[in-house]
Amino acid sequence: MNASTGLTGKKIIIGLSGSIAAYKSAFLVRLFIQAGAQVRVLMTPGATRFITPLTLSTLSKHEVWTDVLNENGWNNHVELGMWGDAFIIAPATANTLAKLASGQSDNVLVATYLSARCPVFVAPAMDVDMWYHTTTQRNIRQLIADGVEIIPAEQGELASGLIGMGRMAEPPHIFEHLRVFFRQNGPLLGKKALVTAGPTFEPIDPVRFIGNHSSGKMGIAIADALAQAGAATTLILGPSKLAPSHPNIQVVRVRTAQEMYEAAKAIHAQQDICILAAAVADYAPASPSNQKIKKTGDTLSLELHKTVDIASSLGAEKKPGQIHIGFALETENETAHALEKLKKKKFDFIVLNSLNDAGAGFNYDTNKVRFLFPDNKALDFELKSKQAVAADIVQQLVHLVQK
Ligand code: PMT
Repeated sequence: MNASTGLTGKKIIIGLSGSIAAYKSAFLVRLFIQAGAQVRVLMTPGATRFITPLTLSTLSKHEVWTDVLNENGWNNHVELGMWGDAFIIAPATANTLAKLASGQSDNVLVATYLSARCPVFVAPAMDVDMWYHTTTQRNIRQLIADGVEIIPAEQGELASGLIGMGRMAEPPHIFEHLRVFFRQNGPLLGKKALVTAGPTFEPIDPVRFIGNHSSGKMGIAIADALAQAGAATTLILGPSKLAPSHPNIQVVRVRTAQEMYEAAKAIHAQQDICILAAAVADYAPASPSNQKIKKTGDTLSLELHKTVDIASSLGAEKKPGQIHIGFALETENETAHALEKLKKKKFDFIVLNSLNDAGAGFNYDTNKVRFLFPDNKALDFELKSKQAVAADIVQQLVHLVQK
């Protein structure tokens, strides 16, 4: 295996925290050792209750650290942090995510995280309600903003007996993530990209919302194409049942325009490329009800207020060298409206799709687009798959980056 994986000689730190998924990390250690990597293992005290340090030291062929201190003094987590080419925290419990997000360094795993100069990958593991809790999701967003790569939890049967999100990614999946990471190449290698995609849902009350028909397909295809081209890509995805396929994409799931804006703003300054493909609600209920609104009258009036325009706000903070690409979804005077948006939102080019074209726009697997540039130049494309449209966008982008 080690001849082809690109992992030979790579120095991998694997940190385990206290979850039943800890037993899977034994297989993870084995995969890296078989691939010719050097592995050092760290465990929180909680992790040692699920699997023994002896198992992991036998597999990694090295002493396992479970504490900052040892019999003779201290385990040099600073040196270890500098030694690693990659640090994988798997499983990462909700508690460990919180500690990582806040820098609460009370064990050897978090101390090493704070000392690490290498890329850090975190594979969360917890029960479904813990996974969806706003605190956990907030900690995950914080870690992504801090530059950590989250290897998303997976759907399935959990230790509690519940079925849902929260299972740690399977060891071969985590291994593949790292293999792709070390193998990365492509014209956008070294670039950071942000993509917004999908709809936003603006709550009216706990059971109703204002939304739109966006499936997320277009933006997800763009994120996959960017990652394929080597860009470190973050996808900020509104409520969509879909997910990207490229393992290197950071997915931040949001619901409302405000959440999408906050997630984008938090990382915008570090991005080289922003592609705004989301269908963001322009208006949201001014004061959503905390309780289900009862059917009392024949009519119901809702007061709506304008949502934040994410593209315009990021455009106002655009730094020299940053590239912003927008979308325009139009139903009439398409080119004129798209050109207005291009200028107002400071896009480098805009991708126009019209609901008047069969097979274009919301939810189709295909799209038909026109690229419009600030000098009024236009490029027209025939109807094609959203993956092929994404490839055209990335190709155009590569021209701009190389200019
Ligand atoms: O998700 P799919 O089902 O695959 O559908 C794809 C798509 C039709 C949603 C996509 O191709 C598309 O056109 N996305 C943009 C839809 C849109 O809302 O366009 P707009 O013309 O209203 O907005 C112009 C630009 O400003 C867009 O880049 C939009 O993301 C951005 N915007 C708009 C409003 C807002 N509050 N914040 C924004 O960032």
